[in-house]
Amino acid sequence: MRTNVNSQLVRHLYVHVPFCPTICPFCSFHVLERRGPDVEAYLTRLDEELAELADHYDVRPDTVYVGGGTPSHLRPSELERLHRIVERRVGWAAIEATLEVHPSTASARRIADWSSLGFTRLSVGAQSFDDAVLRTLGRPHDGDAGRRTVEWCLATGAVTSVDIMTAIDGQDLGSDLSLAVALGADHVSAYTLTIEPDTPFEAIGVVVPDERAASALRTACDVLGAAGLERYEVSNHARPGKRCVHNQAYWMGAWFAGVGPSASSMLPDPDVPGGGAVRSTNAETPGWLAGESADCGRLDGDDLLGDALLCGLRMVEGVDLDRLAVRIGLDARIVRREAISQLIGDGLVELDGPRLRATEVGMMVLDRVAAELL
Ligand SMILES: C[S@@+](CC[C@H](N)C(=O)[O-])C[C@H]1O[C@@H](n2cnc3c(N)ncnc32)[C@H](O)[C@@H]1O
Ligand code: SF4
Repeated sequence: MRTNVNSQLVRHLYVHVPFCPTICPFCSFHVLERRGPDVEAYLTRLDEELAELADHYDVRPDTVYVGGGTPSHLRPSELERLHRIVERRVGWAAIEATLEVHPSTASARRIADWSSLGFTRLSVGAQSFDDAVLRTLGRPHDGDAGRRTVEWCLATGAVTSVDIMTAIDGQDLGSDLSLAVALGADHVSAYTLTIEPDTPFEAIGVVVPDERAASALRTACDVLGAAGLERYEVSNHARPGKRCVHNQAYWMGAWFAGVGPSASSMLPDPDVPGGGAVRSTNAETPGWLAGESADCGRLDGDDLLGDALLCGLRMVEGVDLDRLAVRIGLDARIVRREAISQLIGDGLVELDGPRLRATEVGMMVLDRVAAELL
């Protein structure tokens, strides 16, 4: 029974699937190697969580993003069940439904089936097309598998995105990006290799020098821009009309619900009608399976402003401060006056009418920009 359903519509749904074929030595997401009984328990709990969500919120997703981990590692019957669960609890009328695809899990047949199931956007974790770079990254597939996966995805007519990791020792980044473009990718996410705490890469002392990271960002903009893929976010580049609607909504401060272990949500605060937000992060798999409640924090107007600036400045277009003031009731030009002046003086952000955006230099040090504005 739906009780006390919040009247504000939630239009974006993220589903976290934690299972992966192998665990990559650079990755710090919440991931697990799959075991049949774990997947069964996962799907049962997912159904319960979505039912609880729909009891409290009016969730009608325009976008669904099934990510992870590696959702394409689910068996066909398991992914079909996940689809049925989402459809039954909140509907599957999404204008954009993304599935993250690992090359080791792909075949022409499986990809065609994912498209028939209702996925309109396929995001391939190719990382590189160079076998030596893939070995450095500890990936279980070769460059040909990544290339074939992108071709099979494109053949279904789905919007096809390719993840390329950058700033890797020995990588010819220009050639990785050029191949993604030559294959016909609609969208490329060029992620600078980040050395995450408590990963094998950190333990063995892998280092990404700042100059290499900066040069990789420039190469990504140059190569992808010249091929007609416009940069619209720090790491994301798209052909016209092919931006990721789901991620854009998230960066622009829309409400979103995340389900599955470790998933985050940003939802209207049920106790503050017409204002306020609650950010929550689910427990990791064992706690989540046991029904442990999510870690929740209330955001007041000032928190929401900091959050909106942090996310919005990731976008090349930046943040419209007039619209933000209407949405949150606070004007950043007043309540963050000193920080904004300082950042403008340092050449890290610029104001163009009501729009605050990061400069090219600012985009390279967004963490520092964010720290000033939070
Ligand atoms: C959830 S994975 C994509 C799907 C699938 N799990 C795979 O790896 O093919 C998301 C992406 O995050 C990126 N990523 C993960 N850890 C990273 C790190 N430490 N530095 C940079 N990019 C990273 C990779 O490009 C990866 O494709
Ligand atoms: S990069 Fe992808 S496949 Fe590798 S561990 Fe992370 S989520 Fe799993």
